[in-house]
Amino acid sequence: MNDRSSELFERALKVTPGGVSSPVRAFRPNPLFIESAKGSRIKDVDGKEYIDYCMAYGPMVAGHACEDVLNAVKTYLDKGTLFGAPSEPELQLIELISSRVPSAEMVRLACSGAEATMHAVRAARGFTGRDGIVKMNGGYHGAHDSVLAERDEGHTSRPGSEGVPRDAVKNTFIAEYNDIEDLVEIIDSERPACVIMEPVMGNMGVIPPEKGYLQEVRNVTKETETVLIFDEVITGFRLTSGGAQEYYGVTPDMTTCAKIMGGGLPGSAFMGKREIMEKVAPSGKVYAAGTYAGNPISAAAGMAQINYMSKGIRYTELNGRSDTLRKALSDMLEDSKVRGCVNGVGSMMTVFFGTESVANGSQAAKADREMFGRLFRHMLGKGIYLAPSALEDWFVSAAHSSEDIAATAEAFGSFLKGAVR
Ligand SMILES: Cc1ncc(COP(=O)(O)O)c(C=O)c1O
Repeated sequence: MNDRSSELFERALKVTPGGVSSPVRAFRPNPLFIESAKGSRIKDVDGKEYIDYCMAYGPMVAGHACEDVLNAVKTYLDKGTLFGAPSEPELQLIELISSRVPSAEMVRLACSGAEATMHAVRAARGFTGRDGIVKMNGGYHGAHDSVLAERDEGHTSRPGSEGVPRDAVKNTFIAEYNDIEDLVEIIDSERPACVIMEPVMGNMGVIPPEKGYLQEVRNVTKETETVLIFDEVITGFRLTSGGAQEYYGVTPDMTTCAKIMGGGLPGSAFMGKREIMEKVAPSGKVYAAGTYAGNPISAAAGMAQINYMSKGIRYTELNGRSDTLRKALSDMLEDSKVRGCVNGVGSMMTVFFGTESVANGSQAAKADREMFGRLFRHMLGKGIYLAPSALEDWFVSAAHSSEDIAATAEAFGSFLKGAVR
């Protein structure tokens, strides 16, 4: 029973579209309203606790309400929340990012992932003087016009939402991920300003790069003087403290980060080569601005989370526990009569049903979503909260214990048994 959640949802439906502040949060009959969260757990307003793998869609890598993050926020709160002038925490965060992310010669702060990718694309266009951009089929870079595009004929795109003008996406071209020839074809014919891509796709479920693919993308973009932007809004500070670019040893020209670097508060950044970043106002003529950019509270929270994760062997432990979960799910799936596969890298993973492998957006789109819906409801009943959509990621945090992992694997096993009956 979730009486209070359903009551609140009824109220929300009357005053906000679909009753939620972001569409992915909606599910039937009603989303859970969350009262509080700590470590690997979230608690809803009806008092029920869940092991959480949504983790706010990625930011909470240290776990919910991490003491280091809370203490940093409390310390800075007493000093005021926003100044509209530079402050030391934002500079410290910039220096910290710059010391960790290989491509970050210069960094500019913003507030959301969408803002960071919007600024990065504009910087790439300003730097090259070209208009075309390439994104991957199924890639998501935030809710702004030029990237809210989906594949139309060949490599061209059409608006990915009502309200996006055709004109806004006429310079956006779509490539298939993990297919270097497809990308080469577009670059040769369109001479775009940039390729913007998630190095590990995370918005069609998790799709890791095939061996050598990112390096091939790097080579072709370098040869053609196309700006390569890695959108590390999800992978930044998740796979390692230097993100996917450090993990795979491939350095792009520009990078966007958000989620983890805000410590659960709104915070993002775009960064890259000095010669590109110096095009950004006020040192250059590419306009990028924001009232809340670099606010000291988000900066303090972000720094605390990045520093917390950098202590000792935290990433090794996190990735190790995640591997244990992934392997357990994968083995159980293989031993069952249910068709499916588990994709993942580090602490991000997705279970796809109805297919044996997923290497790109087209294949992910064919996964059995109805079966995922059944898994979602089963897991919820067992006290495990997954993101409600089939094509999202399961995020493990440093706060997930071996017991959490074992309980999750057991719940998944009981689903598979029921699914074949
Ligand atoms: C890869 C990627 N880029 C950009 C965004 C947009 O970030 P935000 O929701 O903070 O605007 C997201 C959001 O999930 C994302 O996954």
